[in-house]
Amino acid sequence: MPLKKTQKREHWASKFGFVLAATGSAVGLGNMWRFPYKAGEFGGGAFVLVYLIAVIAMGIPVLIAEFIIGRSTQKNPVGAFRALRNNKFWPLVGWLGVLTGFVILSYYCVVGGWILKYIFSSLTGTFQTGAAGVRFESFLASPAEMVFWHGIFMGFTIFIVRGGISSGIEKWSKILMPAFIILLLILMINSLFSPGAEKGISFLLKPDFSKLTREGILEALGSAFFSLSLGMGAMLTYGSYLDKDTNISVSSLEIAFLDTFCAIIAGLMIFPIVFTYNVDPKVGPGMFFITLPEVFASMPTGQLIGFTFFVLVAFAAITSAISLLEVVVSFVMDEFGWTRKKADYLLGFVIFVAGIPSALSFNLWSGFTAWGGKNIFDILDSLASNYMLPIGGFFIAIFAGWILTHGEKEAEIKKVENAFHFYDIWHVLIQYVTPVALLIVLLYTTGALSFF
Ligand code: PHE
Repeated sequence: MPLKKTQKREHWASKFGFVLAATGSAVGLGNMWRFPYKAGEFGGGAFVLVYLIAVIAMGIPVLIAEFIIGRSTQKNPVGAFRALRNNKFWPLVGWLGVLTGFVILSYYCVVGGWILKYIFSSLTGTFQTGAAGVRFESFLASPAEMVFWHGIFMGFTIFIVRGGISSGIEKWSKILMPAFIILLLILMINSLFSPGAEKGISFLLKPDFSKLTREGILEALGSAFFSLSLGMGAMLTYGSYLDKDTNISVSSLEIAFLDTFCAIIAGLMIFPIVFTYNVDPKVGPGMFFITLPEVFASMPTGQLIGFTFFVLVAFAAITSAISLLEVVVSFVMDEFGWTRKKADYLLGFVIFVAGIPSALSFNLWSGFTAWGGKNIFDILDSLASNYMLPIGGFFIAIFAGWILTHGEKEAEIKKVENAFHFYDIWHVLIQYVTPVALLIVLLYTTGALSFF
């Protein structure tokens, strides 16, 4: 493919802005919605413990690897692999990443749309007890409404990415992320003063190892990976806008810490109120759109709390969506020489259209199922998060651990003060621990491994 000379590469305006943008990518529906209910399902503190181990053993090492690959090449995922090892294989890992970004964004915006719809409804109507389930069902049943809100969410995403790195993504992350964290802490404190606080906290944090099944362990590994936005080049792309004086090791630790912190705080915000109003905590995926609205309906200040809650979730979701779109946009800008404006509008629109089947899979096309009864939305989600991300992550780990030379890697992270043998520890993890753990996850999800 001809490599066209493109515009000068943009850079983050500040290290702080970069950390907020990357944290914005990491903190999203994965933390707010998936982590709390999975933790509740698989033994609370026991799940949290495995999740923490996964963040340290697989998450942080791959995060560092993606930043190294991105910053050293200053390119999109495909261009980055090609710049480092130009053969038939490695650029394909970049292609897989771009494709994964495309797929995840297409259905992520559908859920993003649901959240916008809930913000809108909490402004115009009230949460009513006993009605949340029916309301959610009737919303899901309306193709036009689903596609409309999906489009609005995509519109916001396109708008932010249009501004570019420092005056789009970074500028908005600097507004949305601090606002998100402040709202999250306020709601958490409010929850901790509710009568169900003690029960809620122990539900989330008290380890019950009997509930930590094998599936739970795998779920914790997969969630940690999805939650840190790893395995598809989003962090690689953000790393490609870094300049040389940002400390990759320290930033990675900060981002991983903030991501995990937000996941736990989300749990501490949700479970106390769920227990206060006696709703079944094991509600699974419907928690956000059915259980919580029920809870808000029973609370004296529920209208305000519910509105604030959906606003903060929207902030988290939008800062993740922009990182997904940026992967695809930067790829087309670098490789085909498109302007940001053209890449952003056109691809944003194409991904919006590609997301329509996911929106319709809850109504008009709900009859279309495959893969053990999954609808289109579930098929795409499971394809991307259970297969494409771990496969991408596995190859990124192999590439960083075994293909790149020490010289190439040390140029990016060794110069950092090495008091705790940071580089050496990272290297053992990325060479052995991370790929083996990811391989086990993959073999297990594909059914090739079922004996443990
Ligand atoms: N990390 C995001 C979340 O937790 C999802 C995401 C995955 C974003 C992969 C970008 C890339 O919701």
